[in-house]
Order: sequence, then C-alpha cells, then structure tokens
Amino acid sequence: MPKIRIEGGHKLTGTIPISGAKNSVVALIPTAILCDETVTISNVPEITDVDDLENILVHLNAEITRTNGKVEINSSNIINKEITETLSKKLRASYYFMGALLGKFNRVEMYFPGGCTIGARPINLHLKGFELLGAKITEEGNHFVIEAEKLKGNNIYLDFPSVGATINIMLAAVKAKGKTVIDNAAAEPEIANVATFLNNMGAKIKGAGTSTITITGVKYLHSCFHEVIPDRIEAGTYLIMGALIGENLRIENMIPNHLEALIAKLTEAGVEMEIGLDNILIKGTNNYKPIDIKTLVYPGFATDLQQVMSVFLTQCQGRSSIEETIYENRFQSLLELEKMGANVKIRPDNHKATIRGKTPLHGADVNSTDLRGGASLLVAGLIADGITNIDNISYILRGYDHIIEKLTNVGAKIEII
Ligand code: EPZ
Repeated sequence: MPKIRIEGGHKLTGTIPISGAKNSVVALIPTAILCDETVTISNVPEITDVDDLENILVHLNAEITRTNGKVEINSSNIINKEITETLSKKLRASYYFMGALLGKFNRVEMYFPGGCTIGARPINLHLKGFELLGAKITEEGNHFVIEAEKLKGNNIYLDFPSVGATINIMLAAVKAKGKTVIDNAAAEPEIANVATFLNNMGAKIKGAGTSTITITGVKYLHSCFHEVIPDRIEAGTYLIMGALIGENLRIENMIPNHLEALIAKLTEAGVEMEIGLDNILIKGTNNYKPIDIKTLVYPGFATDLQQVMSVFLTQCQGRSSIEETIYENRFQSLLELEKMGANVKIRPDNHKATIRGKTPLHGADVNSTDLRGGASLLVAGLIADGITNIDNISYILRGYDHIIEKLTNVGAKIEII
C-alpha cells in the first residue's frame, strides 16, 4: 500500500493556492442531474470523491466530461436505476443522489452512503424531510426505495441543522409542487453555493446560508455555468500548518470570512496573520498560548478542522482543550498522535480532550483513521523530528487536491512511496 513519507522540520515559504471545496462539489455534481439541459461546473478539485461521483453518473448513463478543473454534465439520457451498494458506499455524498433522483423522477433506489467512520452518521433527518414532501420510504437493511406520486412542498423543521439533510431536501423540493420552507436549516457556505447553482438554472430558492430556506417549485431547469467556492477546510488546514512551520507563507484563492472562528482562535493563541481580501499571509512564530476549542455548526469552529487543530495545541505552552459537539467518535487520530509523543487525555464520554504542550513531536509510523485525521498526522509529520510514514493515504487523497505538490512547492520534504 502506498504511504506518505515526511521528513519533518522544513520551513514552509511561498504561496499555496486553494482549490474548489470538496463539500460543495460533491453536492453540485449530483445536483446537476436535476437540470434538463447541459451544465458546466468550474474550479473542480482533483480528488477521489469526484472520481467516485463520476462513476455513479456513468452508471446512470449520464454524460460527463472533465478537463482542467471543468466538468460538463449532460443528463438528458440518464436512466433512473438502482445505485449499487458498491457505488453508494464509496462516499458519504452519494446520498445527494437521493434528493436529486427523487426530485427529478419521484423515485430513487440506492444503499446507505459510505463516508468516514467518525460517528453513527444516520440519515433520519433526510428521510423525514422526504416523507414530509410526500414520499414513501421502503427500507430493508441498508437498502432504500424512496418514491412519490407527486412531491408537494411543505414546512420542514430540522431537529438538527444537518448540512446533508438541508441540501438533500432542497434538491427534492426544487421541482416539487408549491412552496417548501426548511427551518433550522444548516448555514454552511457550501449550501449557498448549491442554491446559487440551482438558481442559475432557474430555480426559486431564497435564504440559503441562513437558518430559514424557502423553495418555490419550478417545472424546468435550464443550462448554466457555475463555479465551486474555495475550500475553507483545505485553507484552514494550510493556515494551521503555516502557524506551526510557516515563514511568510501565503494562502491564496480563499475567502477569509469563511474561517472567522479559526482566525479568531489562532489570534487568541498569538498567531500573527495579515488578512487580505482573498488571501492570508502567515508569519509563524513559536510562542503560543493555550486555548480552548469547541466545535459547532457554521459559523462556529468547524469540526472538520478539529483534528488538525489538535496538532497546533500540542505546540501551545500549557493546557488546551477540545470539545467535539458534532460527532461522537472523532478523537481516533489523537491516539495516533500519541505515537508521535503528543500529551493528550480523552474524556471517557469521547466528547472532550485535553492537550498539554509545548511538546516536541517525533517521527513515527502512523495510520490515517479518516480524512481529517490523516491530514492531522501529515501536519504533525511536517513539524516532527525525523521521518514519519502515514498509511491509508486514500483517506487524505479523498479531500485534498494536489497536496504533495502544493507542499513540495513551498519547501516541504514529502512524497508518496
Ligand atoms: C457534512 O457531513 C460534511 N460532509 C462533513 O465533512 C462535515 O463534518 C459535516 O457536514 C458537518 O459540518 C460533506 O459535506 C460530504 P451533518 P454531513 O448532516 O452532511 C447528525 C469532511 O471531513 N445527523 O451536518 O454528514 C450526524 O450524525 C466531512 O469533509 C443525524 O443525526 O453532516 C452528525 O452527528 C466529515 N441525522 C451531525 O448530525 C441526520 O439525518 C452533523 O451531520 C443527519 C445528520
């Protein structure tokens, strides 16, 4: 199995360009099948999640062409057939075909989605939303058939502002009869990016990016061009690297506003940054104060940056803490970090951990437990003394576009072996 090998201690200097957002593009590609014509999406990152979605489209007989970060999708000859278990399980975002196929054909047949094992990750809120739009759900084991005579708009209150459920209900409601209102909706920037895509096709969606979204059903969606927003989690990952081992490292093609919580926490710890319109210059000193992190839904501190941030906390002078409120099993990577010398204590309920620093880390052979867990070990390897080998790297390649090239260009000693 290929591994990532890192020689730690090399300063990062120069510029890192941010790619399109994974958690937006993985929704935009299934959304494209709602269009009755051909759509073009640009700023598409080269990550394996996009490959897996492409395979599902091909399975459904849609035409997809990818060239230089552009994807063109023509679903006029699409066949609404079962999405196999293998294809469904490849990634979490396969669940967006539930809303898209239901919205287009009033019927979908597929399996429970895949995705990182960072918690139970049920889809009950998605299914409840579909039922409120008039769909009937037949569930056998992890196999689902969801169908409706005619979808009809309704008021839907989400018990939790779930990103996936908000987008999936939006996809099912965009061609439904009448008006749908989603209350307590998730407000992550990726949701607004999907709504803008649909509105560019002629949909009628208001309030995306707030906790109340109103969708008035339309009959036809026409072709359009759309751009994926920059990946705030990728940008946050490089910002934290810059704080740890950067020397005038610039992160560009990003939206600093999307990372307010992270920037506030890094500033609180004493990190110096120059914040521009679409870039941040980070100097990197080495004298940071301890801080407390609590993950929350957007615009709170992103759970997807929690694991990478835990590495930063190993380099803060004193006792820091992390409280994970979104997932019930997202501290596995801390156990791998301990192999590199980190001083961590996880509370038995698995929702809070304390990290003592400043602790010099050393190279080791470690396992990626999930996408962001793998990224945290890569960051640790960059600052560790000696050589770090990371395996299960397919997790990392699922969500970070050209990460080896981008880091090598700014001075890291990193390779896939
Ligand atoms: C999206 O996952 C992202 N994935 C996740 O990023 C991210 O961590 C998450 O949003 C939260 O920001 C994609 O966009 C593909 P949720 P999603 O529905 O949609 C519970 C990464 O590293 N819940 O907002 O699955 C759920 O179990 C990934 O890029 C229910 O209980 O997240 C979780 O505890 C990891 N029932 C919480 O809500 C439901 O029906 C948040 O889930 C749905 C969710």
